[in-house]
Amino acid sequence: MATAKVIFATITGNNEDVADIITEKFEALGLDVTQEEISQADATEFESVDICVVVPYTYDEGALPEEGLDFFDDLQELDLTGKIYGCAGSGDTFYEDDYCRAVTDFSAALQKTGATKGAEDVFVNLAPEGDDITHLDAFVEQLVAAQAK
Ligand SMILES: Cc1cc2nc3c(=O)[nH]c(=O)nc-3n(C[C@H](O)[C@H](O)[C@H](O)COP(=O)(O)O)c2cc1C
Repeated sequence: MATAKVIFATITGNNEDVADIITEKFEALGLDVTQEEISQADATEFESVDICVVVPYTYDEGALPEEGLDFFDDLQELDLTGKIYGCAGSGDTFYEDDYCRAVTDFSAALQKTGATKGAEDVFVNLAPEGDDITHLDAFVEQLVAAQAK
């Protein structure tokens, strides 16, 4: 059975909701998936799964989650060649050019590990609803399909 890990960061809960939707979809597709809050996680945990997903919030005009900085730094030291990765997250379109910047930054950091991007980054404006859920479900389906190749 393929394995996945979903790491999220949240202050007000929106990114936990995004992570929950992703995790539930992995479960529905029959994967062995674990979900963990970023300050509790060690980046090396990605070495033992097939699909790596990060779901960060963006703060202070483009900033990464403060409690995720160690994870972000450690991630870039890893060799995740052969693994599939994806990033999604909730931000606020009010921040225009910095909208979901942390998602883009984590995606670039994962690219540097040698992992393969299995689906385009998904940006969610505030709480996930309606079309967001459709996009997140499709995101997971693409990750699983990329892993099965
Ligand atoms: C002080 C502050 C700064 C923020 N800066 C950004 C930003 O630069 N880009 C962005 O997309 N969202 C920004 N946001 C919006 C949050 O990312 C958004 O509300 C998100 O849904 C919060 O996720 P959470 O509920 O998981 O904590 C900011 C919010 C606050 C309160």
